[in-house]
Amino acid sequence: MKRYHLTTFGCQMNEHDSERMKGMLESLGYSEARARDQADLILFNTCSIREKADDRFIAHLAEAKKAKSERADVVVGVGGCWAQSVKEEVFARFPFVDVAFGPGQVHKLAEFLTSDSLTAQGFFEFEGFTGRLPAKRAREYQGWVQISVGCNCVCSYCIVPSTRGREVSRPSSELVAEVQRLAADGAREVTLLGQNVNSYGRDLSGGERVSFARLLEMVDAVEGIDRIRYTSPHPKDMREDVIRAHAEVSAVCEHIHLPLQSGSSPVLKRMRRTYTRERYLDRVALIREHVPDCAITTDIIVGFPGETEEDFRQTLEVAEEVGYDGAFTFIYSPRRGTEAATLPDRVPHEIATERMARLVEVIQRRARERAQRFVGRTLEVLVEGPSRTDPARLRGRSRHNKVVNFAGLAGPGELVEVEITGATSQTLSGEASLLSRLS
Ligand code: 5AD
Ligand code: SF4
Repeated sequence: MKRYHLTTFGCQMNEHDSERMKGMLESLGYSEARARDQADLILFNTCSIREKADDRFIAHLAEAKKAKSERADVVVGVGGCWAQSVKEEVFARFPFVDVAFGPGQVHKLAEFLTSDSLTAQGFFEFEGFTGRLPAKRAREYQGWVQISVGCNCVCSYCIVPSTRGREVSRPSSELVAEVQRLAADGAREVTLLGQNVNSYGRDLSGGERVSFARLLEMVDAVEGIDRIRYTSPHPKDMREDVIRAHAEVSAVCEHIHLPLQSGSSPVLKRMRRTYTRERYLDRVALIREHVPDCAITTDIIVGFPGETEEDFRQTLEVAEEVGYDGAFTFIYSPRRGTEAATLPDRVPHEIATERMARLVEVIQRRARERAQRFVGRTLEVLVEGPSRTDPARLRGRSRHNKVVNFAGLAGPGELVEVEITGATSQTLSGEASLLSRLS
């Protein structure tokens, strides 16, 4: 039996795509190898969002080159966003790569593997949904659901519209059927995935055309689904009906990841985000009004071309004012083919690093303060497994998406009640209540 080894980089959409690649390979009769040196097929599902992502992956690719030089019959495959973004040059620059495919043609990997010529083939069209391939899920209690592919935004820093193509939504009936299958198969939490989830459905027609808020209700109605998450929404499409769903639709979790990117309207304009600082803060106010306890997290870029000290202070101010429960912060990284890569007034690295440190201070301080509201409360926790820092304890997540480390006895996928006794900026700690098992 042939064996594959797959390494995944990047976002949750890539984790989803990798589960589908594995499902497809196993339906072709492949099994998973524990290590690269035991694999007949060495695969990478790549990311290209920042330069660092490229660098990390290239180091791994060197290992595949070595494996190929030692065992000539090994097949090396590279899929995902990096592959798509270097499609013109991939075989010239990396001659030991046998097959390369973008996120829109994962299914072509099967065609390649069953063809006669196992060498230098590339597949880079945007067609079909990875979500229609069979899946090998990593966690029985959790399922990814790809609700759309591609992105119609033109954020000037972002490589994704070029790696994942125009936005196409999957029909709502197909999604509900998929969630029903997942629930029957043990999933109690689903995460709806799209580059811009809340513009879902606008390209559909007839009875299939439903809004994102309606889709949340349809998924909630599926028996056995206790938690619904989604990522990522765009602030420009964050309508009141979606916000209200967090209060009114029982499975929709009390957490919204709302990417800010910058707190300065002139920078947002150059980023082509199509909202202003005021409009963003207005969305936050609406969230606080309808779902007061909602956790809000975000993504922020520092050092975008032309960002002045004044612009940056505006970002600090928004971070201070919103009081995020957590944030991913990034130093701007110019990406090939994007508009921002051509903009003047690059911010020197030392300045960007210094701004980043100031931002992280505010984010962490506010997150720590925010987290104190959980101390003394009992939260519903979905158990993931042993704690990473202390294997005698357990780890899980609250509905607010906070990692909770706690003492108790329960298996992955169980819902337990945990009394929260401590909170840092990143994690909560506590003890499972007696007779805590909710199910
Ligand atoms: N440089 C730095 N960060 C970026 N992101 C996207 N493109 C870039 C870039 N060129 C960040 C954004 C996005 C997150 C997934 O990655 O904050 O929301
Ligand atoms: Fe990386 Fe973005 Fe592609 Fe996800 S969509 S793999 S984050 S480049």
